[in-house]
Amino acid sequence: MSFIADRMDCIDASGIRKVFALAAKMKNPINLSIGQPDYDVDEPVKEIAIQAIRAGFNTYTQTWGIQELRDEASAYYERRFGTPLHNVMVTCGVSGGLFLGLMATVNPGDEVLCGDPYFVMYKHLVTLLGGVCKPIDTYPDFKLKAEAVEAAITEKTKILVVNSPANPTGVTLSKDELEALAAVAKRHNLLVFADEIYEQLQYDGDPCTIAGMYDNVLLMNGFSKMAGMPGWRVGFAAGPEDLIQEMNTLQQYSFVCAPSFAQKAAVHALRMDPSVHANAYRRKRDIIYNGLKDRFNIVKPTGAFYMFPEAPGGDGDAFVAKAIENNILVIPGSVFSERKTHFRISFAAPDETLERGVEALNRLAQ
Ligand SMILES: Cc1ncc(COP(=O)(O)O)c(C=O)c1O
Repeated sequence: MSFIADRMDCIDASGIRKVFALAAKMKNPINLSIGQPDYDVDEPVKEIAIQAIRAGFNTYTQTWGIQELRDEASAYYERRFGTPLHNVMVTCGVSGGLFLGLMATVNPGDEVLCGDPYFVMYKHLVTLLGGVCKPIDTYPDFKLKAEAVEAAITEKTKILVVNSPANPTGVTLSKDELEALAAVAKRHNLLVFADEIYEQLQYDGDPCTIAGMYDNVLLMNGFSKMAGMPGWRVGFAAGPEDLIQEMNTLQQYSFVCAPSFAQKAAVHALRMDPSVHANAYRRKRDIIYNGLKDRFNIVKPTGAFYMFPEAPGGDGDAFVAKAIENNILVIPGSVFSERKTHFRISFAAPDETLERGVEALNRLAQ
């Protein structure tokens, strides 16, 4: 008899596991698969974490996080977007926020809409909870459009996930596009889960937020990408009071709190100049996009650090297998999508790796 709960059958990690099993055999690969920035935590921010540890700030914090960070998250949204946040809680990364948020809202049979391609966690967490994740095809431009959302809504639809800038496509939505999505959600009384983790990494157009466009938005953001601290596990969520309260109840019985020293440091990360990393990564985006655009069919990414080209020949799985044989590590699109025609490149890598990647991928596409 197995000790494993039936619900674990709902989660399928085989696609990505296969890629990493193959990758483990590669020696010094051209690694364009990484989902975290290649910049380190800023020195002043590190210093604050170290000082906090030395000063004995090593206990539990309040379940909802330190007041200073909750206030600063709201002040940051106000400075950046003109929209303060209400009912802010500190989470263990955006993953923590997603987990608590979905746990608190998804009943068996409830439908959750998200764009396809999607960040893998959405689909698997919804399925784990007995919900039904309904990905909405956004090919070929990868924009989640209000009309497509409207067409997918049934009487069971409860949540709409909006991720801009997006993983795995790097596509961003404009203020008008977000407003149209918020209007559909409002018309159909949906709860919006807004995953804005890549919000600081936008290269073209004005950064914008869906927070403040509609009352029933659970806004999530975090420090893994903007502040280069994915291992420190801090993020924040803000939204309707009753939902945030339930998420806190769940946090009390699960994560307890986000790491104490990291919360202190995160306050200062929100005060750093957001344009520094965006400028550095715009340049990386240009290296890889300009290097590949003539041989690959690619939507130019305007944010995050990914792009999602079509695989030559139209089979992303086969192309990635061939890439891996040639020492290039990229992720098949089938991991993020109901289609398997594309593949994901991450440009969160040193310039030299990007240049080697451009050359090797172009050779492979010939
Ligand atoms: C779209 C998206 N949301 C959430 C996360 C999780 O981030 P965190 O480290 O804050 O849990 C990631 C990480 O790759 C992501 O790409």
